[in-house]
This record gives sequence, C-alpha cells and structure tokens, in this order.
Amino acid sequence: MSNPLQGKIALVTGGSRGLGAATARSLADAGADVAITYVSSAGKAAEIVKELEGRGVHAAAFQTDQADTAQAPRLIDDVVAGFGGLDILVNNAAISVESGKTIDDPDVDVAALDRMHATNYTGVIAIIRAAAKVMRDNGRIVNVGSGIGSRVGVPGFADYAATKAGLVGYTKGAARDLARRGITVNMVQAGLMMTDMEPPSPEVLKAMVSNLSIQRVSDPAETAAVITFLASPAASYVTGAVLDSNGGYTA
Ligand SMILES: NC(=O)c1ccc[n+]([C@@H]2O[C@H](COP(=O)([O-])OP(=O)(O)OC[C@H]3O[C@@H](n4cnc5c(N)ncnc54)[C@H](OP(=O)(O)O)[C@@H]3O)[C@@H](O)[C@H]2O)c1
Repeated sequence: MSNPLQGKIALVTGGSRGLGAATARSLADAGADVAITYVSSAGKAAEIVKELEGRGVHAAAFQTDQADTAQAPRLIDDVVAGFGGLDILVNNAAISVESGKTIDDPDVDVAALDRMHATNYTGVIAIIRAAAKVMRDNGRIVNVGSGIGSRVGVPGFADYAATKAGLVGYTKGAARDLARRGITVNMVQAGLMMTDMEPPSPEVLKAMVSNLSIQRVSDPAETAAVITFLASPAASYVTGAVLDSNGGYTA
C-alpha cells in the first residue's frame, strides 16, 4: 500500500526542525494529516506546514511549551478540534543542555538541567496522558529516546540519559495500559544526527562515532522511517518495544 496512513491524524511534537520535521514529512508521505508543535520557531514551523500541505495532506502548527505540563491538555484539545481526532502521537520534542559537564562540575546550570527534565520527561508524560484520553482505537504512540538512555558511553550526559531512560519505563507501562484499545506504545532510540540540537564537543563527537557499529552520523530521515513503520498498521503486534536506530551504539 503506498498510503498506509491515509485518513490518519498524526501529531509530531517538535516538528519545526530536525528529526521532528523529517518525521512529519515521512508521515505525510504515507498519507497522514500532520499537526506539529514548536516552542519558538514560528517561521520554521510555518515552512514545514507549507511543505506538508504541498504533499497533499492537511497540516498545521501549534505553539506550546512542553516544559509546562499544564499546557498539554490544551494542545491536544486544539489538535482534535482542528483535525477531527488523533490516531498517531510522536513525542519527538526534547532538548539537550549542559552536555559534557559532569554532575560534580561547580559551573553546571542546575536550572537549565531542571528545564530539560521538564521538557524531555514530565512534559512528554503530560502529553501522553492528555492524548490517551482522546486517541482513537488502534492508535499509535511513538516516543523518541536516545541510545544514551540505554548506554551513556561518555561522561557528561547523566541528566539527559535519565530523561530518556525514564521514558523507557513509561513507554512499557503505557503499552500495558492502552493495549486493550489496540493502541501501541513504543520507543525509538535515535542516534547521532547533525541537527540544531546542542552538538557535543568535537572530541566527544569523535569518541561517540568511534563507539558506533556503523561509524557515521545518521540522516534524520533514516530514523523517521522507523518511526513511520511503528505508526503504521504493519506494526500492529509491536508494543512496549524499544527499537534502536542508532548505528549499533548499544550493540
Ligand atoms: N540530534 C541527535 O544527535 C539526537 C540523538 C539521539 C536522540 N535525539 C532525540 O531526537 C529528538 C529530536 O532531536 P533533534 O536533534 O531533531 O532536535 P532539534 O533539532 O534541536 O529540534 C528540537 C525540536 O523540539 C522543539 N522543542 C524544544 N523545546 C521545546 C519545548 N519546550 N516545547 C515544545 N517544543 C520544543 C523545537 O522547537 P523550536 O524549533 O520552536 O525550538 C524543535 O522543533 C529528541 O527527542 C532528541 O532527544 C537526538
């Protein structure tokens, strides 16, 4: 089937750039109508919406600050009101801050780390909770993690790793809770991509690439394809899974 997601409504958080934009394109190419979120890049989000509409689907962008859990119910209400329902949720939006600084570094910005925990972890859970209430039967939730959530590999990533590892547990618990409605919940652990996300220092990047089985960074489209597979009817018997799309970092 060339359009396996025809008639489906998807929400991709953080769809204005990077992996989120690649995922929005991939879902649209499979026929889904796509809502995206952004926090500050209104112009970039509008460009992605235009691109998605050019692919023949309905698309819209919603501004929200995922770090503020109180905003999640309004976001989901707005998507459902604008699109007529919700079948697919891709929790992609996240930040990486203070990377490379060890937990005993006197200069570490704890407030920035706390905001990362709110954005990457409690904010994602708030969106899943709100979405689970309205998602149609046989829906799909795909959470974007990182290989670092399973294997940190280098110093200076404890907090980021914790946000992603926490989501592994939530993914499995939510899979158990929602299976009776045919809703699957899975995680894709992405790997190194040269997006706008805080880049590791050149030395750390070199160490990370040398840690990979496939020794190169990835194109976001490679991981977007994995997410789209999990969002498709073909993945109907996959739930609670943690799928690595990170060049064998965790191998
Ligand atoms: N890049 C990597 O090497 C890598 C490796 C492993 C895993 N990952 C994971 O892959 C996912 C995508 O990363 P990326 O590299 O594509 O990131 P990115 O290029 O930095 O894009 C982040 C996206 O998240 C949105 N966002 C950030 N904070 C937000 C907030 N508080 N509320 C709502 N939206 C917010 C941004 O919106 P604005 O444009 O408005 O700021 C943007 O759309 C993340 O889950 C990340 O942890 C990335």
